[in-house]
Amino acid sequence: MILVTGATGNTGRHVIDGLLAAGADVRALVRQPLLAGLPAGVELAVGDITDPEAVRKAAAGAEVAFLLWPSYSAEGAAPVVAALTEQVSRVVYLSALNVDDDQPAEQNGVWGQVEELIVESGADWTFVRPGGFAANTREWAEEIRSGGVVTMPSPKAGRSLIHERDIADVAVLALLDAAHSGKKYVLTGPEVLTQEEQVAAIGAVIGKELRVEEQSAEQAREAMFAAGADPVFVDSGLRYWESLVDTPEPVHSTYRELTGRPGRTYQEWVREHADEFRVLSTEEVAEEFVGAFRSGEFARAGKVQAADVVRVSPSEYEGELVGQLAIMENAVRTLEGHEISRVDILGPLVSPDHFAARFTFHFAGDEPETTKLSLYTVTAGKITREEVFYFTEPVS
Ligand SMILES: NC(=O)c1ccc[n+]([C@@H]2O[C@H](COP(=O)([O-])OP(=O)(O)OC[C@H]3O[C@@H](n4cnc5c(N)ncnc54)[C@H](OP(=O)(O)O)[C@@H]3O)[C@@H](O)[C@H]2O)c1
Repeated sequence: MILVTGATGNTGRHVIDGLLAAGADVRALVRQPLLAGLPAGVELAVGDITDPEAVRKAAAGAEVAFLLWPSYSAEGAAPVVAALTEQVSRVVYLSALNVDDDQPAEQNGVWGQVEELIVESGADWTFVRPGGFAANTREWAEEIRSGGVVTMPSPKAGRSLIHERDIADVAVLALLDAAHSGKKYVLTGPEVLTQEEQVAAIGAVIGKELRVEEQSAEQAREAMFAAGADPVFVDSGLRYWESLVDTPEPVHSTYRELTGRPGRTYQEWVREHADEFRVLSTEEVAEEFVGAFRSGEFARAGKVQAADVVRVSPSEYEGELVGQLAIMENAVRTLEGHEISRVDILGPLVSPDHFAARFTFHFAGDEPETTKLSLYTVTAGKITREEVFYFTEPVS
């Protein structure tokens, strides 16, 4: 049994896929099981990584763990690492390239400190130390969707961003084979692109002309604080990007050495994530949403819902439900004790800002079917509202 933390994140989802493909038994520590959207076959342990008791329980019976510490501070990590390594004998930790073994752990940020805790625990370990993730460039998505001018500091900073699948591939190798114990794997993407070139790569894939506008350090600092960036990260980040204009990031060949394959390029990452950088049409949203229900991949449906989507269903409850979690909880509550045997879907029927679909739920045994029509409002490529009309009594 392998425990995966951060399983719903950029890297963790690929770690889960890689482990399942290798036939491993996988358990994931998640905070919101309803929104986790992990593949069938993954055992879910519910809890917060900062809670040592939850980690101890989640790790019980596992031999190995993939650890992600989701903070820029190591505060609270010591009891968590202790609880984890009480249960598992080997840890693969998602660290970072900027750990420098020649300087003391406390100068290596949270990553150096967590590495040190793991070493001191006596467990076997592998440290996966990637550079910047390709997923970081999602921060440009809103500007690209809403216009086409991307503002940033240091557009000529040269970066060797890594595709998160490459990080996951290496983590999976280390999770499955103890021969990787004691290794520190420094990982980057296979080439350097300036930030300007990354924007151009996005433009080429989505077929939109994009322009980069340089921000001063002060403008960038303000924008980052306004977006809720961690203060520890803001100034060091700005200094770092500035330094990359003259001294671009290095390219490491570890991925190729370990897997025998070249690392995935940034262009490959953009092609996989192209939809995040453009506004989907109502028809595309409708097909994606209804298609996800048809195939039972409910997490896919969530991707085309706005975070603050509203659901109105007077036959079920008064007022409105707001947010994906509230809607999911209502579905689980309503369907408790009813076993769905089949769902027939008619639609989607699409108009410029709306689509409609009719769902008929068939239940096991002699429980009568129930049919509803949902009318969805689509705003800027996301479902923002669902209004539900029941033809029959809703289940309760
Ligand atoms: N981005 C970079 O350039 C870069 C470079 C080097 C290293 N790193 C390191 O990589 C890690 C981030 O990896 P990522 O991008 O794959 O992850 P991510 O997409 O940022 O997702 C974070 C994951 O951690 C989970 N999580 C967050 N807080 C949690 C909590 N309190 N309890 C339980 N689970 C929690 C989230 O689960 P929910 O679904 O519950 O939110 C999610 O699965 C960080 O440690 C970062 O320092 C990043």
